[in-house]
Amino acid sequence: MTRQIRLALRAYGVGGPGQHSLWKDPRIPKNASIDIDWYIAQAKAAEQARFDALFIVDSQFIDATYPPHYLNRLEPLTLLSAVAVHTRHIGLVGTLSSTYNSPFNVARRFASLDHISGGRAGWNVVTSLDSGTSRNYGLDEHLDYATRYGRALEHVQVVRGLWDSYEDDAFPADVERDVFVEPDRLHALNHAGEHFKVAGPLNISRSPQGQPVIFQAGVSEEGRNLAAHVAEGIYAPGGTLAETQAYYADIKRRTAQVGRDPEHVVVFLGANPVVAGTDAEAQRRSREIFDADNDFGRKLAAFGRSFGAYDFSRHDLDEPFPDVSAYAERSGRTRGTEIVRRAREEKLTLRETVLAFTEYAPSPFTGAPETVADTIAEWFAAGAFDGLNLGFRTPDDLERFAGDVVPLLQARGLFRTEYTADTLRGHLDLPVPVNRHTAARLQPVS
Ligand SMILES: Cc1cc2nc3c(=O)[nH]c(=O)nc-3n(C[C@H](O)[C@H](O)[C@H](O)COP(=O)(O)O)c2cc1C
Repeated sequence: MTRQIRLALRAYGVGGPGQHSLWKDPRIPKNASIDIDWYIAQAKAAEQARFDALFIVDSQFIDATYPPHYLNRLEPLTLLSAVAVHTRHIGLVGTLSSTYNSPFNVARRFASLDHISGGRAGWNVVTSLDSGTSRNYGLDEHLDYATRYGRALEHVQVVRGLWDSYEDDAFPADVERDVFVEPDRLHALNHAGEHFKVAGPLNISRSPQGQPVIFQAGVSEEGRNLAAHVAEGIYAPGGTLAETQAYYADIKRRTAQVGRDPEHVVVFLGANPVVAGTDAEAQRRSREIFDADNDFGRKLAAFGRSFGAYDFSRHDLDEPFPDVSAYAERSGRTRGTEIVRRAREEKLTLRETVLAFTEYAPSPFTGAPETVADTIAEWFAAGAFDGLNLGFRTPDDLERFAGDVVPLLQARGLFRTEYTADTLRGHLDLPVPVNRHTAARLQPVS
């Protein structure tokens, strides 16, 4: 069978990064980001189009300059639990920070979502970009990269251990024998590591997909290594074809290197397609979208995010780019370092640096439906991604993609026409993890 593309819908409300004016669009309710019916409608539309998953990103730090959607948004697992009861097939992936949550809580919440949804839950593990989040959790400073990602790896290992607390046959609920639970099928974890001490067991059983699917987002060395060790899905940033191919090859190589099957890490590339009747119309629309948010003051404010919400407005715009590397160390080091490097190399002023990093760069998936389907097929064949994590500005845009582009991919055998599974693991062709205690028990004694 032809290898097929995976599709996720990255649902936003009133406008994420770079979309400061979207909330004014009459098709977007002003309370979209906190309106559960808005998300349910989009999840249903994506399910109708046979998408693999609904993907909810998140953050926990704001100031008034942040994008409208960030200012007033629903907590991901609460949101996904509500969506779960209105959908039947689509996967439900929620972003939760390993830096600002404890494993027992995370394990319990995702296991609950997995049961509520009949095996459709996925956890997108992030370490949090915004350093200001620390002050909402009793810490003066955000953790450095080594600690953040060290904690993330141990966090996931503990969560997985907790998800194996019960073996699959733990609850005979046999009235005649008077046995509700088999005590020898329940296991404490007794984890004591560098970052966590967790006794267990977890008070919820395994779900139809065994364990929720682990996603990861974060592209530093540390982030890539975390992905290689534990991720089954990745939300990867977009870029040029060459950049995305390099990232994809690197992830698959690292995964193989740690002894895992590279096919068991599904790379979803972030993309914001612009589809219109003709290529020219789509290009025009793409330019209009850029122009609507091409406001230097906002760009300057958003630029501070990689440097811990640093306030660049205190600097002269026409002086050399200030030395702010230290602020990126505990925030968005990957992008921050790239910004500083380029500014230095090209001797850019602050103004020139902001403009260089925010210049017009249309999505490669811009055009008439045939053009967009061609490009998706080309990039997929060229090893740029396994799937796309798609963002749309309005429900009309999602409808257009679902109605005009998806059928073209289906006609080429590149996308499913019907669901063949009920779980997220099933959609992504990921194996159901065998419970470690069952595996140990069944291990032949040599
Ligand atoms: C494509 C992508 C999506 C991300 N989504 C989120 C998110 O929704 N919430 C969040 O707190 N961090 C998110 N992150 C940030 C990571 O958690 C990470 O902390 C940050 O990128 C810095 O790590 P890095 O240098 O490894 O990328 C995302 C990162 C990438 C690359």
